[in-house]
Amino acid sequence: MNEQQLANANALVKERQEEVPSLPKAVMTEKKVGQKRKRQPDYSEKVLAVEDLHVSFKTFGGEVQALRGVSFDLYKGETLAVVGESGCGKSVTANTIMGLIPQPPGRIKSGRILFKNKDLTKLDKAAMRKVQGVDISMIFQDPMTALNPTLKIGEQLTEGLRTHQNVSKAEARKKAVELLEIVGIPNPEERLKQYPHQFSGGMRQRIVIAIALICEPELLIADEPTTALDVTIQAQILELFDEIQARTGVSIILITHDLGVVAKIADRIAVMYAGKVIEIGDKREVFYSPQHPYTKGLLASVPRLDLKEEELQPIEGTPPDLFAPPIGCPFAARCPFAMEVCERVYPGTTELSETHKVDCWLQDERAKHVFQM
Ligand SMILES: Nc1ncnc2c1ncn2[C@@H]1O[C@H](COP(=O)(O)OP(=O)(O)OP(=O)(O)O)[C@@H](O)[C@H]1O
Ligand code: SF4
Ligand SMILES: [Mg+2]
Repeated sequence: MNEQQLANANALVKERQEEVPSLPKAVMTEKKVGQKRKRQPDYSEKVLAVEDLHVSFKTFGGEVQALRGVSFDLYKGETLAVVGESGCGKSVTANTIMGLIPQPPGRIKSGRILFKNKDLTKLDKAAMRKVQGVDISMIFQDPMTALNPTLKIGEQLTEGLRTHQNVSKAEARKKAVELLEIVGIPNPEERLKQYPHQFSGGMRQRIVIAIALICEPELLIADEPTTALDVTIQAQILELFDEIQARTGVSIILITHDLGVVAKIADRIAVMYAGKVIEIGDKREVFYSPQHPYTKGLLASVPRLDLKEEELQPIEGTPPDLFAPPIGCPFAARCPFAMEVCERVYPGTTELSETHKVDCWLQDERAKHVFQM
């Protein structure tokens, strides 16, 4: 940044500083954010490493650059929450890890997904099928679409075990009963003989979770797992995730729009914007000391019990077009702190702590100087 740019930035910042909402100290109360979890992640054991992943889709309108360099790690027994506005690439990230991107129209252009010393992007369909549902399981938003309405729950639960793990019918049934007990379904023996429509929405999601866990995966990916459920049931399902993690040590990637959910069960948070992880950190770092203006905006736009509705501060504007994403910071058009450099060059990643990283020009020493003036 040259002197003129600094001066411009300085003027811009001064002009806009009044407009910028003061940051909420936290969305949740201290007690809720800091609530004791039932288990502790093991940060010495990395389960998954996503490295500079680029994924795009060919469409009639052109190429959608859905992921533009996504990187993060996941450790044993931890829950990483992935948050961000609609269309930022959360589901594409999950589906790419799970090998569910239809190719074509999708294409993994570059990057690696390292899991158990294998790069999942390089596996063929047959090898990937051995990973799906066995080592890595996925839970989707709508439990009804994940279940086959014409098959009894028992058959659906044991299918994965019988296909992948060569266990006898009796053993598979025993395991299914055990899993239904774990996920809190009463009378499991009886319930195995029933069809999905005989269960409530919350119970169906519990069954989906049981199916996802029956082969004892190391990684569970949950894409908006509670969105279709009512609030009380949501809380029970989240509690269930916590219990399951304590029992099995499974690592979880939890995709959600709901920062309340994040505050309850995440260990770390990755904030995505326009196909990139723009901030990642420990839950407390992201909640109490967010550094990216988008993260700050996201936190300011969450309903809080202590604020009236009119005090909510939605983020103005819309995310960029992923057919032709900006070369600089994708948040520049909406950012109250945007400087000239932001539009021209994508900011590098600044490591604020061992866990906290952010992509923003405000971390540049010269920009810090602007803010102190
Ligand atoms: N099969 C596809 N064909 C074309 N574009 C796609 C396809 N799947 C995803 N995309 C595009 O990729 C981008 C990222 O989509 P993605 O579904 O990952 O968003 P998301 O963050 O999960 O959003 P939401 O919160 O609404 O679920 C979007 O622009 C979307 O339109
Ligand atoms: S890089 Fe610039 S535009 Fe992007 S978030 Fe930071 S200050 Fe705003
Ligand atoms: Mg999605």
